[in-house]
Amino acid sequence: MKISDSIINIGAKTFDIDLFEGQYPAHNGMRYNSYIVLDDKITLFDGVDKLVVDEWKANLLSNLNGKNLDYFVISHLEPDHSFSIGEVVKLFPNVKIVTNQKSITLIKQFYDIDVTDAVIVTDGSTLNTGKHTLKFITAPMVHWPEVMMTYDEYDKVLFSADAFGRLGAEDTLDDWLDEAREYYTNIVGKYGVQVQNILKKLANTQINAICSLHGPIINENIGYYVDIYNTWSSYKAEVNGVFIAYASVYGNTEKVAYMLKDMLEAKGIEVCISDVARSHSSENVAKAFKYSSMILASPTIDGDMFPIMKDFIHHLISKNYQNRQIGFIENGSWASQSAKQMKLLFENSKNIAFLENVVSIKSAYNDTNYPALCALADELTK
Ligand code: FEO
Repeated sequence: MKISDSIINIGAKTFDIDLFEGQYPAHNGMRYNSYIVLDDKITLFDGVDKLVVDEWKANLLSNLNGKNLDYFVISHLEPDHSFSIGEVVKLFPNVKIVTNQKSITLIKQFYDIDVTDAVIVTDGSTLNTGKHTLKFITAPMVHWPEVMMTYDEYDKVLFSADAFGRLGAEDTLDDWLDEAREYYTNIVGKYGVQVQNILKKLANTQINAICSLHGPIINENIGYYVDIYNTWSSYKAEVNGVFIAYASVYGNTEKVAYMLKDMLEAKGIEVCISDVARSHSSENVAKAFKYSSMILASPTIDGDMFPIMKDFIHHLISKNYQNRQIGFIENGSWASQSAKQMKLLFENSKNIAFLENVVSIKSAYNDTNYPALCALADELTK
């Protein structure tokens, strides 16, 4: 797939994957991108995961068409990109690895590869390959400490490593937002400060295309994609609305969660609702980031909340979820504890406003719960 007259994506997609990075469901497959820049000297940007290595290798060799590879830029050592670096070194024993010092440490930890002759670059270093001048931009913690991006000054293309990627195998931008939000929040959601830093570094750079290591090439409306990364990394809500995450043993807590949903929608509020026991935490983390408010509804079990609710909240706070308002619905047949315990989990989270009105039901909803439910709905619409 051509990005410009001299840049080609030689990556590959797979649907033969259940969990991306061993934990995030990849219902729509996954794409692993890798690029070559054809110039006086030929440069390869990154390898691929073992799942697609055979197709990638065939793409690499057919696009080189017998030419030698001069430089191999390694942007990120996570094995979904670095698995195939041994193949590159085997095929092209004289290739010069180009990377930063932190990557060298990780290469030695992961692989038995001689890096004595590697070209070590730092933030702002450049490499001229003929027409192209490649400028390296360190991007620590987007997603690992050694990550670096590269800006091609000739074609004005940003090789962005994991950033701006998304889940899913297809290469169109049509359905980018939902897959990208789930990918971003779970993979780099914790590192908003570091993402903000890289956005600031790139602020005055003209970018015609963003070439991520996952997902489609972004070659239109670049400002839109940068803006959405700015929203996510500054922990601002995308949508003024409510995400209701509930767990329910026999349907009684679920009923109240849906009553609240109906009340809010009747007031014109956008609501998204999810049963945390029947959906993956990675989907729910993304939904929590999307909306400005969240309601957590859980029965009390063993003096605590429903275990899967605890697991979801643990995932959410580990991604530095912040700047939101949160409310609670609890259920307990003899000693309700779940609202208190859920609230405690956010005690170290930044800028969380807890809603005053807590709905507490005993076993099942009855009319005595109605005023509290109305009060919670009213508080959410203030
Ligand atoms: Fe796609 Fe952080 O690796």
